[in-house]
Amino acid sequence: MKTSSLAVGVDVGGSSIKCALIDLQNGAFAGERYSTPTPAQGSIDDLLCALASVAANIPGEHAVGLAFPSVIRNGVVRTAANLNKAWIGQPLADLAAERLHRPVIAVNDADAAGLAELRYGAARDVPGTVLVLTLGTGIGSALFVDGHLVPNTEFGHLQVAGREAEKRASGRAKVEDGLSWDAWAAELNLVISELHGLLWPDLIVLCGGITEAPQMFMDKLHCEARLCVGTLRAEAGIVGAALATIGSAEI
Ligand code: BGC
Repeated sequence: MKTSSLAVGVDVGGSSIKCALIDLQNGAFAGERYSTPTPAQGSIDDLLCALASVAANIPGEHAVGLAFPSVIRNGVVRTAANLNKAWIGQPLADLAAERLHRPVIAVNDADAAGLAELRYGAARDVPGTVLVLTLGTGIGSALFVDGHLVPNTEFGHLQVAGREAEKRASGRAKVEDGLSWDAWAAELNLVISELHGLLWPDLIVLCGGITEAPQMFMDKLHCEARLCVGTLRAEAGIVGAALATIGSAEI
């Protein structure tokens, strides 16, 4: 199937909604990046309005890929750990398409980040089992087996030594619990070690805003699997959202 090599990627994060036009040939930004605060606990309409206002910066008819911090099945939101619970059951892809007047594909935000790292970044051409973790407001996960995504894994909600993984080691946990880099890395080591023991991945890729400062924590992490930060860092979600518009056959 012939597709446009340009698509809009929108990443709805816990604190901001970011979007950009992406060149799918190489995963590069084909224009400016725009953002607006996320009304995370606001109404469904509040979030859709914010989405429409930020996407309006990118005129044209390009398809839109929407990365959302929830389990997404067939365009429908199934969980809302860090959003207004009214989102559960909402047909996100249809609602967004109506507001943006363009086709919209909705995917889990960590799955989007993982797709981008697999296609253009740190996990490119890596065979076997690859686990991508996003360390932001929550912990998101994307699991790939020989390049195939197992969608909607929610490892951030795994209980690790009696506490949810994302409450221990997300970027937000570091700030809210006032953790030093040492203390946060110790929490992340617990989470990584638990996941390693369950999945035995070949590679673990860490993404999210906090990975913009890898020198603060990477040498404090230990894992039997290869461990690295994503090449696309905090932008993986936007790029992967755009990539999701062309479907898994072409990815
Ligand atoms: C959500 C996931 C999401 C992750 C990162 C978790 O709380 O349950 O769906 O991928 O946060 O945003």
